[in-house]
This record gives sequence, C-alpha cells and structure tokens, in this order.
Amino acid sequence: MGKSILILGACGQIGTELTLELRKKYGDHDVVASDIREGGSDLMASGPFELLDATNYAAIEDVVMHYEIEEVYLMAAMLSATAEKFPTRAWNLNMSSLFNVLNLGKEKKIDKIFWPSSIAVFGPNTPKENTPQNTVMEPSTVYGISKLSGERWCEYYHKKFGVDVRSIRYPGLISWKTAPGGGTTDYAVEIYHEALKHGKYSCFLEPDTFLPMMYIDDAIRATITLMEYNSGNLTIRSSYNLAAMSFSPHEIAQSIEPHIPDFKMDYTPDFRQQIADSWPGSIDDAFARKDWGWTPKFDLAATTKEMLKHLEEK
Ligand code: SER
Repeated sequence: MGKSILILGACGQIGTELTLELRKKYGDHDVVASDIREGGSDLMASGPFELLDATNYAAIEDVVMHYEIEEVYLMAAMLSATAEKFPTRAWNLNMSSLFNVLNLGKEKKIDKIFWPSSIAVFGPNTPKENTPQNTVMEPSTVYGISKLSGERWCEYYHKKFGVDVRSIRYPGLISWKTAPGGGTTDYAVEIYHEALKHGKYSCFLEPDTFLPMMYIDDAIRATITLMEYNSGNLTIRSSYNLAAMSFSPHEIAQSIEPHIPDFKMDYTPDFRQQIADSWPGSIDDAFARKDWGWTPKFDLAATTKEMLKHLEEK
C-alpha cells in the first residue's frame, strides 16, 4: 500500500516532476497534487488534483483530513527575481505557507514534511567556493531572507515539537517539462529554449558568473531519497547543502555549440546580476553525502544533451 502524499505548488517547475515521480513510486491515487491553478495535462490526468492556496491553513487542513494525508511537500514559493519586485507578497507567501505546514506537523495531523530551501540563504560575506554547510549566512535578497528564516523555523519545530521536517538547499534547477518562473538561475533553462528556437540567446548575467546548478532528475532523486531515509541518520534539520555542478553562462554556451554550431550568445546583464553575485559559486555537500548517501549523476555535458533532446521532441 502506498502512503498518502500532498504536494502544494504541484504545478511549478519542481512540483510537476516531483508529483509525477511520486505517483510512479507510490501509486497515482495516493499522491494528491494541488496548486492555485491547474497544471500540465500529464499532471492533471495522472491523479487527484485540488485547487488550493498554500497560505490558507483551513483549506489545507480540509484536504489533509479528506485524503488522510501523511506527508506534505511544500513547493509553493515566490522565487528570487520576482520577490525583489514584490517583497511583502513574497515574504507573506513564503512564510505563511511554511507555518501552515509546520503547524499541521506540530498538531500531529501529518507525519512528515519536505520544504525546499536554496543557495539563496547565503550572501556576499559567505565564502564563495565550496561553501560549507555551516558558515556565514547574511542573505541580501528578499527570497534569501525568507529561506534562511524558514530554515531556522524548520529546525526550531523539529527540536521543540518533534516535527519531522526535511529540507534541501537546491542549487539552480534545470528542467524541460515545466518552465521555471522568476528565478535568477533560470537563464540556464531559457538558453536551451532560445538556442533551439532562434539559435541565439541574450543572457541577463555576465559570462563569468559561476553558480551551483543541477539537472532536475538529480534534484527529484535527492528529494525522494532524503524523504525516505531513516530519520535517525539525519543530522541537519535546517536544510542540507546539495551540489551537482557549477558553471558560468560562457561554459553553458560552449556546451551547446557542439549540438548547434551556429549558436550565438550575447550578454545584457540586469538587476539579476547583483543577486547572482551575492550567491556562492560552488557548494560543499559533504553532509548530504555522509548522512544519506548523496551522489549526483548529471554534469553539464549530460544536462545539455538531455535538455536539447527533450525540448526538440516537445
Ligand atoms: N533558483 C532559484 C532562483 O534563482 C534559487 O533558489 O531564484
């Protein structure tokens, strides 16, 4: 028998693929997708869906009771670039949705929670290369401030109320099924769409801006592995550093050239450059490797191959 799982924000970049993978693993009927809008046809057709606002505690509680939900994945959030434009809305969405889920855990209405954090929890004073798990954290973005606060609350609810909450500091995620929205790392997705459509891309970051990145299949596998792992092995209840690769816009362009020889890239940096400059260039994920056996599978060349293949088919 499967276990009942609810995904909040199931129609977004991570939520879509996570829902489909969890349905494969635990059975379509036991994995309830929810969002404030309907999602892609794969997601809508493969199992139950509820229109649900993650900031509405009573509405989430109803769905949790109705489906006898045991685990919640909270994937609803406003990302870094959009959050700079709407700071109050970003804070309210990112924090109130987290409190709702943590409080369901505290009230013992659900057993387990996944909540994503981000490399955005780090800031300009953090060591930039191989950024350790425990280090200076002074985020300078609205999004980063909400993620760091969220991490503190996760650890607090775990220690104080025994809530089984688990979290990953995702790097920039690269995927083809659903477009990301409003992130600073999203150039590394847009570039593949534009390369196939127009043979060129105008990048909003400078050529030598290194950021930690990961292909979506690795991210989904990491998430499910962490959620299935024996609780006693987990030493981090704020959020785990997680890494796969690190590259610059110049390097991703180079990885596309063998597939699309005429590909041209130019650079028109905007306000997102400052956000990127405040984040690490690479991440040390030793705790994830040691505590739950993490190893990534996709490097930049493999990611480029997958992205171009799948987008072309689409
Ligand atoms: N990829 C996210 C963003 O760029 C960071 O978590 O906002």
